[in-house]
Amino acid sequence: MAQATHHFPTTFLWGTATAGYQVEGNSQAADYWDWEQQPGAVLGGQRSGLACDWWGGRWQDDFDRAAADGHTALRLSVEWSRIEPTAAQWDEDALDHYRQMVQGLRRRGLTPMVTLHHFASPRWLAERRCWETGEVVALFERYARKVATALGAHVELWCTINEPNVFMYRSWAEGVLPPRKKDIGLALRVAANVLRAHAAAYRAIHAVQPHALVGLPIHLRPTLPAHPGFALDEWAARTQFNLFSALFSDAIATGKLRRPLGPALAVPEAKGTQDYIALQYYTADVVRFDLSNPGELFGRRSLPPGAELDQTGFYASYPAGFYQALKWAHHYRLPIYVTENGIGDVGDGLRQRFLLLHLRQLWRAVNFNWDVRGYFHWSLVDNFEWERGWSHRFGLYALDTETQIRTPRPSARLYSAIARTGALSSDLVAEYAPALSAAMFPG
Ligand code: BGC
Repeated sequence: MAQATHHFPTTFLWGTATAGYQVEGNSQAADYWDWEQQPGAVLGGQRSGLACDWWGGRWQDDFDRAAADGHTALRLSVEWSRIEPTAAQWDEDALDHYRQMVQGLRRRGLTPMVTLHHFASPRWLAERRCWETGEVVALFERYARKVATALGAHVELWCTINEPNVFMYRSWAEGVLPPRKKDIGLALRVAANVLRAHAAAYRAIHAVQPHALVGLPIHLRPTLPAHPGFALDEWAARTQFNLFSALFSDAIATGKLRRPLGPALAVPEAKGTQDYIALQYYTADVVRFDLSNPGELFGRRSLPPGAELDQTGFYASYPAGFYQALKWAHHYRLPIYVTENGIGDVGDGLRQRFLLLHLRQLWRAVNFNWDVRGYFHWSLVDNFEWERGWSHRFGLYALDTETQIRTPRPSARLYSAIARTGALSSDLVAEYAPALSAAMFPG
């Protein structure tokens, strides 16, 4: 018998998460398709191309893999640009394709979670600058109603807009993702429109499906002051947290959207528009006050010292931050789903340690009776990582983009063992990451 076993509730969902644009391939009606073709947009000029060829039908084999590995859920997104390729013209075949996918999940015993918008938008919507003008609110509401009506018989768990904080920041403030603007004032206007669009979609889904659970997935990055106790670092860390990580969830709790200067913006229609906290955690930031960095609210960020970094130095494996993130989610007193968590790692050694250490933090949260109901690892198969192209590999399964062949990484087997048993045991740690055993299971 294992020296110790950490059990999760029997109803706990074990899944993986992904997004349409990143796996479907040839999403040619999306704004991101045009962006990809721009020189310098994607690292090394890489392209999404066929991606994981889900639109060509390979979702079936991937869902088989997830089911064979004992997963019980899967989060995917539907592509607005496929469903409404031209304004107000619905592609019923595309909706049917998605219907088959969610039915395919159900048939395999996997609970579907569906995201309506994950970064990419229809080209026509981007050309009309609808996120900036606010026109998006009514359009997104209409689209949400259409999708909920088409898929509602098979889907109860919904996400409206993936990572509104990342979407707003990277596309309109940092200028990395389309439409590649660097205008803080505009980014804040977009944030308000995103929030209103979410609220409208929340109501549209509930009108069709009163019992649906609807959430707004937040990219949560805990911030640690570089010098605890030093007031300016504390202020910079808190400000970054409030205006990035907590911005949207607080707005939903209070009906007020914080702004860096001046009073909060009243968005009363957003109040109470989430049924659960959709938590996405990858890494944490150390923040020090830096007067020369007004663009980032006078904070200078770095990854936590001593934490293990991925090969590209993009993310650090910092499990304590996951616990903080869960604690933050818990304070809203709503159910919690971890809708993304993972690390890019071609070699997979880091991913195995990451999984074990992060799931241990999740188990702690469960043991405090925080209402965490499921965990979706990012991701099942390597997928197209936006401006980082194929240089970051997040899959439990490695993808050869030339041949479309998938190869399980050891983490696929590890995650399967956890999902099957609903538990994390000292035996698994001894087998997959023996160097962690003494620290995780002393005595
Ligand atoms: C996004 C995903 C992305 C992942 C890993 C998340 O912020 O929602 O689309 O692939 O990070 O980079």
